[in-house]
Amino acid sequence: MSEPLILGIETSCDETGFAVVRGRELLADVTASSMDEHARYGGIVPEVASRAHLEAFVPTLDAALAAADVDLGQLDAVAVTAGPGLVGSLTVGVAGAKALALATGKPLYGVNHVIGHAAVDELVHGRFPDRFVSLVVSGGHTSLLLVDDIATGVTELGQTLDDAAGEAFDKVGRLLGLPYPGGPHVDRLSREGDRDAIRFPRGLTSGKDKARHPYDFSFSGLKTAVARYVEAFQDRGEEVPAADVAAGFSEAVADVLVTKALVACERSECDTLVIGGGFSANSRLRELAAERAAARGVTVRIPPIRYCTDNGAMIAALGSALVRSGAAPSPLDLPTDSGMPLELVRV
Ligand code: KG4
Ligand code: ZN
Repeated sequence: MSEPLILGIETSCDETGFAVVRGRELLADVTASSMDEHARYGGIVPEVASRAHLEAFVPTLDAALAAADVDLGQLDAVAVTAGPGLVGSLTVGVAGAKALALATGKPLYGVNHVIGHAAVDELVHGRFPDRFVSLVVSGGHTSLLLVDDIATGVTELGQTLDDAAGEAFDKVGRLLGLPYPGGPHVDRLSREGDRDAIRFPRGLTSGKDKARHPYDFSFSGLKTAVARYVEAFQDRGEEVPAADVAAGFSEAVADVLVTKALVACERSECDTLVIGGGFSANSRLRELAAERAAARGVTVRIPPIRYCTDNGAMIAALGSALVRSGAAPSPLDLPTDSGMPLELVRV
């Protein structure tokens, strides 16, 4: 069989993404975002996101098909995010994907969004090695995966026990009075601070916690420590050293992420670390990962940022891998799964 032609549909949060992939080649990728509508609420409003997906579905689909110069009848399969994500948003994408699959008679694959964040790198940097570790970090997830085969062999090593890394950045952004989403603002501010001025706690990195949770993350203690630190200045009526706080906080998050990811590489004998998710835009994470991985002979692969934030290409990439592996399609009555576990590449 020639390389399969796959339509990927992503609607798990605030981005409506459609992409067309042939094998490992990306033909088109179009994204509409409702972030501007959420910004004034300081967080994603699920009802607003669902409605925006509904409005963007057909125009974004049409734009992707036109950009790829293909029509629905030429597709070999449709892939859609089945979870994890906001249930209303997922439902719009899955319902639309079912309609397309039914109308065209093409097989449908309901796939795991988090694994998609790793899968997309194959479109950018080429074939994956036989085995690699992937760190997926965003506003919604912080997961460490061991991947033997992106379609059939993904093992969850660990994940955050509380906040996601991006979420912690957004909360610290709010503490420092920065606009939502705070992540990029905190990152920018951190570049002006001294990362060694304040040492904030690194969750699950010592003693029993480390032994019990070698690959899990926790950022809620760190967030509380930052809040206490900031409040102490505010209570005394002193100016908060915001740049140093941002730098010390960024250092703590990047340090924990990189340390645990590289321990995973070492223990599972992997020489490749694939980083994905919107938080991989973080400048300190990139620096520290590059620096420490090079020292250990590990290659770091991070797709360009437009493929790290939510998009259809990641879902098409995973759909393509599933079709190439010979995996059976999902049933046409497939459910959405807002808490879809990493053990499931597809439903
Ligand atoms: O993947 P993404 O676009 O959406 C989710 O699925 O969550 O990730 C966005 C998250 C937000 O929390 C945002 O504040 C954070 O990633 N983020 C950053 C940076 N760029 C985006 N956090 C820290 N530094 C950045 N440069
Ligand atoms: Zn995501």
